[in-house]
Amino acid sequence: MSNIVPATPDSIGHAGELIATGRLVAFPTETVYGLGADATQGRAVAAIFAAKGRPSINPLIVHVADMRQAEAHAVFDSRAEELATRFWPGPLTLILKRRANSPVSELATAGLESIAIRIPSHPVARALLSAAGRPIAAPSANRSGRVSATTAIHVAEELGTRVDLILAAGKSPLGLESTILDLSGDHPVVLRPGAVTAADLAEVIEGLGIGDGNPDRPNAPGQLRRHYSPETRLRLNAAMADPGEALLAFGPDPFAGRLAVSKLNLSATGDLNEAAANLFAMLRTLDAGGHHSIAVMPVPEVGLGIAINDRLRRAAAPVGDDATGSGNG
Ligand code: TXA
Ligand code: MG
Repeated sequence: MSNIVPATPDSIGHAGELIATGRLVAFPTETVYGLGADATQGRAVAAIFAAKGRPSINPLIVHVADMRQAEAHAVFDSRAEELATRFWPGPLTLILKRRANSPVSELATAGLESIAIRIPSHPVARALLSAAGRPIAAPSANRSGRVSATTAIHVAEELGTRVDLILAAGKSPLGLESTILDLSGDHPVVLRPGAVTAADLAEVIEGLGIGDGNPDRPNAPGQLRRHYSPETRLRLNAAMADPGEALLAFGPDPFAGRLAVSKLNLSATGDLNEAAANLFAMLRTLDAGGHHSIAVMPVPEVGLGIAINDRLRRAAAPVGDDATGSGNG
């Protein structure tokens, strides 16, 4: 794990040079850790797909430092501009029409006419983007089909020496991947729920639709039913844990004081922000415990709970639902 370094002005400067020379750098964002490469170098982008074991038909999010850069790669209509003003920098990815003269590698956008773009708010991500001086393509820093990494240690466990450098800056503050809003079609559609909720978006744009998560829909290549998957089976909306099961609790713990159950609590006070930030790390810990299954208590389907339940449902989908082999991010 010697490729982990604390994020400092020096290490970020070095990381920017690595990116510019086509190498891979994992870095913190406010959502999850990203596995970054220069989005304009096809070979560097290819190295991302190789490191993740990800099919190259699944496009990547291009991260940029500011609006000027964003407009060099994507066409912003008035809706996109308003959304960017309201939510950037932050955990919202916009799918927009790709500019014909954008230098972003076709591999990063999987040959599509659209491009996924976002300005992250994490200070280390922003410093890295300015040090690199170029757009950075970055999927979540996990092996394809596994839960996203929310700490530098988890990145190292996932990718080891497949990544040249890991910039460490503690735990990802939000803990869930960005909201993805597709503005490339006739109607705006949420392809992936996240910390920017549909209600937040509806304050800025009209006619919002919610994606059905259908993996066969060509405009949502990464939306497989089974995704973010631990090895251990998940049992959702459980009232309590059965013998041999671990418990992922939410809210007041029904097993308080009982020792028999291996358990973690997403948030004992029922705070959805805390639960989102804990979700992937706790799934990893319970997954490593060798349990028969993991019972997960219900999380309310409101606000950030919608994104948490989306990830839980994907993690719980039976093995085989990802049989198309495409799109795990
Ligand atoms: O929070 C995040 O979004 C993190 C951090 C690192 O920014 N990144 C992330 O990337 O979650 P990834 O690759 O794991 O998920 C990106 C998703 C994939 O499901 C991909 O299929 C979808 O975005 N995507 C990318 N470009 C697209 C496009 N042009 N049209 C539709 N979906 C697209
Ligand atoms: Mg991913």
